[in-house]
Amino acid sequence: EHRPMKIALFNVKPYERSAFDAANSRYGHQLEYLDARLTMSTVALATGFPAICAFVNDSVNREVIVALAAGGTKLIALRSAGFNNVDLVAAKDNGLTVCRVPAYSPYAVAEHTLALILTLNRKTHKAYNRVREGNFALDGLTGFDLHGKTVGVIGTGTIGAVVCGIFRGFACKVLAYDVKENPDALTAGATYVPKEELLKQSDIITLHCPLNAQTQHIINAAALAKMKPGVMLINTGRGGLIDTLAVIHALKSKQVAYLGLDVYEEEGGVFFEDQSVKGLQDDVLARLLTFPNVLVTGHQAFLTNEALANIADTTLANVARFEHGEPCANRVG
Ligand code: NAI
Repeated sequence: EHRPMKIALFNVKPYERSAFDAANSRYGHQLEYLDARLTMSTVALATGFPAICAFVNDSVNREVIVALAAGGTKLIALRSAGFNNVDLVAAKDNGLTVCRVPAYSPYAVAEHTLALILTLNRKTHKAYNRVREGNFALDGLTGFDLHGKTVGVIGTGTIGAVVCGIFRGFACKVLAYDVKENPDALTAGATYVPKEELLKQSDIITLHCPLNAQTQHIINAAALAKMKPGVMLINTGRGGLIDTLAVIHALKSKQVAYLGLDVYEEEGGVFFEDQSVKGLQDDVLARLLTFPNVLVTGHQAFLTNEALANIADTTLANVARFEHGEPCANRVG
């Protein structure tokens, strides 16, 4: 007799629920949808669930992992590609397996990167509001041709390689930096250069590496100083890749002329929720939002129908493989 695997899904939004319901018709797990973010104060909700499912803003730290293990949880199935929010050493120490969704739609994130770049450049967000107010003046809407510009891609994995191809399509020169070369990025037409060269030569720099000890603040004051004055900087990777205070300084000095962020260092507890009545508590984010040349989206780069369906399917497949004692290629710890 098949006993369905009980999964507690933390922090689930309505748009995820429908994708998970649809995918689960193929797996037959028992899904418990929870509104709560996974934290020390909500971890008790996982008691008795052999598997839990978490997202990027759930803090799966040692304390939480110890509590999960005590409650009988064996598997942390992340419904994200990034896993910087999980203490993998603590998971190992407590006998918990961690798996993720390594690739669900690199196009979703790569195309959102393009959306940020085109919006900042051509100012469609401003034009939209102006025209609605009956203002058809073009003052302040001047952009630049992407054609012939140099785009620097830091991190050329699944997403970065797609980004390289997109900008070759605009006839941009694409410079790439990574700790290892990806043949797909080379095929797409990127040229690997040392990081310093990329920083110096690029008109647009976009970040697609994971957040880890080596990449934390990869864009700091020193890196910003090496960039072309007037550079456009885009981050759809993880907030911690950029030293936010350093970038605010660079915006004030006009070293950075455009900043597009889908992620923010302190986004936990702010992003994914409506803060419009409560008001922002984060003064640094509030300062960022005052710049006319800064565009922030709330970690939505992944948010396409295709990506949601793939995320749900891979997450549930990961759980099924764990349930059947099969090795899982998507294991990270
Ligand atoms: P991936 O693992 O395929 O590629 C990451 C690349 O970064 C690899 O080529 C790796 O060698 C490189 N890298 C690692 N350390 C580096 C370093 N020190 N310097 C330069 N490059 C380095 O990952 P994928 O799928 O392309 O995703 C990249 C990142 O994008 C994820 O780690 C995640 O943080 C972020 N992401 C953001 C989303 C959003 O909605 N905003 C959605 C999905 C992913």
